[in-house]
Amino acid sequence: MQFHFVLRVAALAAVVFTLNLRAADSDTASAVSPREHLSLDAGWKFHLGDDWPNALRLDKAGSSGGPAAEKFNDNSWRSLDLPHDWAIELPFDKTSDGSHGFKPVGPGFYKNSIGWYRRTFELPAADSGKRIWLTFDGVFRDATVWVNGWLVTRHEGGYYQFREDVTDIVKFGGKNVVTVKVDASKFEGWFYEGAGIYRHVWLDKTAPVAIAPDGIFVYSTFQNGINTPNSVAEVHLQTELSNLQTNAVNATVKWELFAPDGTKIGNNYASRSAELNPRSEAQVESLFYLVSGHKMDFATRVGDMAQLHTPILWSPESPKLYKLVTTVEVDGKIVDRKETEFGIRTVGFDKDKGFLLNGQPYELKGTCNHQDMAGVGAALPDALQYFRVAKLKEFGCNAYRTSHNPPTPELLEACDRLGMIVMDESRLLGSDKQNLAKWAEQILRDRNHASVGIWSVANEEFSVQSTPQGGNVARTMQALVKSLDPTRPVTYAAPQGDTFDGINGVIEVRGWNYQVGKRADQYGKNMDSYHAKHPDQPNVGTEQGSTVSTRGIYANDKQLGYVSAYDVNAPSWANTAEEWYGVFATRPWLSGGFVWTGFDYRGEPTPYYWPCVNSHFGILDTCGFWKDIAWYYEAWWTTNTVLHLLPHWNWAGKEGQEIRVDAFSNCKSVELFLNGTSLGKQDMKPYSHLTWPVKYAPGTLSAKGFDAAGKTIAETKVETTGEPASVQLTPNRKTINADGEDVSVITVSVTDAKGRIVPVAGNKINFAIEGAGKILGVGNGDPSCHEPDTFIGQPPVSAIAVNGWRWQLGTVPEKGAAAPEYANDFDDSAWNVIKPKTDGDTGDMPLHDGQTAFYRAHVKLTEADLANPGVQIRFACIDDHGWVYVNNQRVGESKDWSAQPVFDIKKALHVGDNVIAVGVRNDSGEGGVNPDVNIELVGNAVATGWSRSAFNGLAQVIVQATKDAGEIKLTASADGLQSATTTITTQASAGRPSVP
Ligand code: GAL
Repeated sequence: MQFHFVLRVAALAAVVFTLNLRAADSDTASAVSPREHLSLDAGWKFHLGDDWPNALRLDKAGSSGGPAAEKFNDNSWRSLDLPHDWAIELPFDKTSDGSHGFKPVGPGFYKNSIGWYRRTFELPAADSGKRIWLTFDGVFRDATVWVNGWLVTRHEGGYYQFREDVTDIVKFGGKNVVTVKVDASKFEGWFYEGAGIYRHVWLDKTAPVAIAPDGIFVYSTFQNGINTPNSVAEVHLQTELSNLQTNAVNATVKWELFAPDGTKIGNNYASRSAELNPRSEAQVESLFYLVSGHKMDFATRVGDMAQLHTPILWSPESPKLYKLVTTVEVDGKIVDRKETEFGIRTVGFDKDKGFLLNGQPYELKGTCNHQDMAGVGAALPDALQYFRVAKLKEFGCNAYRTSHNPPTPELLEACDRLGMIVMDESRLLGSDKQNLAKWAEQILRDRNHASVGIWSVANEEFSVQSTPQGGNVARTMQALVKSLDPTRPVTYAAPQGDTFDGINGVIEVRGWNYQVGKRADQYGKNMDSYHAKHPDQPNVGTEQGSTVSTRGIYANDKQLGYVSAYDVNAPSWANTAEEWYGVFATRPWLSGGFVWTGFDYRGEPTPYYWPCVNSHFGILDTCGFWKDIAWYYEAWWTTNTVLHLLPHWNWAGKEGQEIRVDAFSNCKSVELFLNGTSLGKQDMKPYSHLTWPVKYAPGTLSAKGFDAAGKTIAETKVETTGEPASVQLTPNRKTINADGEDVSVITVSVTDAKGRIVPVAGNKINFAIEGAGKILGVGNGDPSCHEPDTFIGQPPVSAIAVNGWRWQLGTVPEKGAAAPEYANDFDDSAWNVIKPKTDGDTGDMPLHDGQTAFYRAHVKLTEADLANPGVQIRFACIDDHGWVYVNNQRVGESKDWSAQPVFDIKKALHVGDNVIAVGVRNDSGEGGVNPDVNIELVGNAVATGWSRSAFNGLAQVIVQATKDAGEIKLTASADGLQSATTTITTQASAGRPSVP
């Protein structure tokens, strides 16, 4: 398929450019823009199960039923905040899909695969006239979204953002409800994917003339191309505006740039004006931009360029960010203002020197990663994105491949700010209209991020990658990148060897998944021969490694699903760290590579299956604890002086037996000692390790590292520890924001009497929390642990039976209009009495065809009853049509005899005697009100009983702040061990603007 911008000539006539360079005036700079970017993460209700299969109505507009209907009562649903992943909450199940982490969700587990979310919100009347947008950053998967009973969208992909303009159907000055049905019964990948609204949701308000969604593009080039970034930097600014009004307007866009230290660049701003046609058919057409069938309605584009003479360049080592402030004015009034962070830097590939950053060869020391983490599954609060990026940087990782899907924007933000080059990957190869539209949206959304350095069109598309058609599709996707982002190279993660067929022959940068070869004479052979044949095509190691290892385990154990942590095990298609890195480190044209993987992830247990539930490929485990292999990478990827010994030295019972001792180090030579006696000094070969066979004796294993001159430059030791004596808690951050989102990641360690971590400890640790926080999840990095990561509290529901019903035939007003029989002081003493029936039968149904009647009952409630967050009334049956009154206030209507209607009645109740009255119309057969009626008191859910066993001495707790400034006290205790308490301060924080 062809794609291109179609800009009709008529549009050019409608656009009037004027270039103004004026001094910034303080008035407009301080004025407030109508744009509000509000988080809609807090305050959702959730229900698991496909209990309303017919909720979606396609016959009539705005009439969907069940939870999609505005009046639906969700009191008894669980309250939660997003992001949320319900798959993580389910128990492990051996019969479910192992590649997805043995969670009973997806194919074959329909019951657990449909989730419902509801969120009620108010829009002030003053917002009328604004545009209202709902944006979902990612829902896994197949989301049906309604607002106020109107179907808003169906969106299938589990990794792509989607956005809807809901202005027409929301109520200003009233209540609105957004309902999302999530259907995770299909997979998209072959790894853990989670289930639910696992990324952020936003509600944006804009003026009708505004910056279009993803309508800002800022990028830099240098006059002399990518190789001389010391020359003048040209900053290209593009803004897409949208006019959703019915009249034409003249809009002015102003751009201001701020340096990384916050100072404004120059006293001026650049501005241009554009005539925006009204939202009328003929003229709108002339302004369409078409990107592969994806239309950006009513938009026009203006552009400009600023010159910066002394640019401060962005790099992972110095992640300095500039800020662009884009302001739009109409008739001298600000109608929009947006801030965009960006970096000034160049990226590219050289066929001989490999990847270039800012004109210099820059080795990509990358890792591939999936998006899940211990404790939280796929639903990571932003602070965990920062935690994970920082963890990867600890051992020298400078690049991140978002395998195999578009990332959440906050991951990119963390990479921008902490310094990490991103290979931004699509989910699927495809040049069909839908796939190209998604790919375009991904590029438009992500292209301002300094961190994004390379686009990847897909990964290992085995069936089609070597065919001409596969090549055609990749070419189309690559060309789409070039049309939307002229600054970045494109690759494909190819698992083939020396073949130019299909995608490899058309892609800009040849990606290499594995192919290093197992036999010594094969190392690099495929790559060398390919490079010789195609010397002009640059290369990159898209997926390399990968050692499989379990933290703290030094022998393979199929039964337990553990793999030794020496650098010795890799799947047949892959390589150990030393094997792949030896090849890449000596071939600069390969650009470096991305190890599979940085973190262990759920699913793909390799090489063993159940009881193992997650992968072992990580340099770090699922919590981010270092495995031994992390020191290998630190040694060869950083300039730190590294000296690390493995294994641990707690081998009681193995006295006198030989144990393999390895050193990961970048010292020129290393000498090993056991209890002070030298076991020999060995020279280190580059990208290698050292090994000594050592007869075990408890005590101290130590080593010294030397430089080329023989000077001691590093020392380390591993000691035999005593028995577990206490628990220690070490938060990664002692102060976090009281914004309801921020987290502290707390390392739990089991130590001996001397405070040394006991490397074999597996004590079960119990956690208790007090104060301004809650536990979000727990983990321990054990790939075969089946203990829960989360402990969910269900809202307690208690029922008060409504007895003593009386009824009388009477004229029930249509449409539920008022009647004396609904009043509290109405005298019903002469009415018929119904005997309560609660045996599941429909009860006493005395009405005949066409009869109408009133029913009344009294119920006494206390102050404590009404203090519950939810109070609702549930009827077993109202046959056929009923109007329900509480204390003479109408609270609901039931139109379906087969429903068990539930109404929220908290506001209509008072302490003491309350009158429930129902007017009923029986259309046919027997009818009436089944006297099985209950008031349900719905309490707050409290999760208790948090615990996790240590795995080889370590576990992890993720604690999240509430919105209250104060302190969180987390206590960890275990049988026979001294317990520990840590205090985390939660500091007052405005938090991000959010929907109340
Ligand atoms: C690769 C694939 C990854 C992962 C890995 C496991 O071929 O691209 O997604 O499955 O194998 O070794």
